Amino acid sequence: MSREIKSQNITYTEGEIAHEHRVQQNGHEAAILWFTGLSGAGKSTLAQAVEQALFKQGCHTYILDGDNIRFGLNRDLGFSPEDRTENIRRIGEVAKLMMDAGTICLTAFISPYIVDRKGARDITPEGKFIEVYTKCSLEECERRDPKGLYKKARSGEIPQFTGISAPYEAPENPELVVETDKNDLAACVQQVVDYLRERGIVKTD
Ligand code: ADX
Repeated sequence: MSREIKSQNITYTEGEIAHEHRVQQNGHEAAILWFTGLSGAGKSTLAQAVEQALFKQGCHTYILDGDNIRFGLNRDLGFSPEDRTENIRRIGEVAKLMMDAGTICLTAFISPYIVDRKGARDITPEGKFIEVYTKCSLEECERRDPKGLYKKARSGEIPQFTGISAPYEAPENPELVVETDKNDLAACVQQVVDYLRERGIVKTD
């Protein structure tokens, strides 16, 4: 879908509450934590656990999760390359709004295309888009197969399945690489939270 604006005669109105005032009130920076990786790599699990850790220390957070969003906002989209691109375009915009509202927005989508992830990064203020490559070998994802989808994909029951019959383009220069097939969940969460502390997005407690 085109990124051009179809409407004419529209005017952008700036809000009266400045972003930095929201940040000040919240006591932490706003950011987008963009988890990308194969189905079964652990994006949702990791996003949930990171959110728990951040929420516990008083941060304003929200998760946008691939499967969940497809029940509502993106119910009109499937898994063709075009639909995945539109899926990620919309999520990039929603995540940006959430970030603008002062939250740390965590997104858990396969988001298989480099160019689509770049699109989301490009509309986000500099330094606020944190791409977290949730890395896990295809073999291990297939072994885990939490939803039984790899089995179905292998038997041809699910077409265009990422990693089997549709591509996954790994990030070339992500802010973080979290290896869920080498480290346990607690260590992966710590890695993300440490990064946020180092970058001054959340306070060190
Ligand atoms: S994305 O490619 O457009 O970013 P998204 O993260 O929204 O995908 O949805 C992926 C989830 O949809 C998977 O975790 C899996 O549960 C489910 N799914 C169903 N069909 C497919 C498919 N063909 N390819 C990948 N995931 C699929």
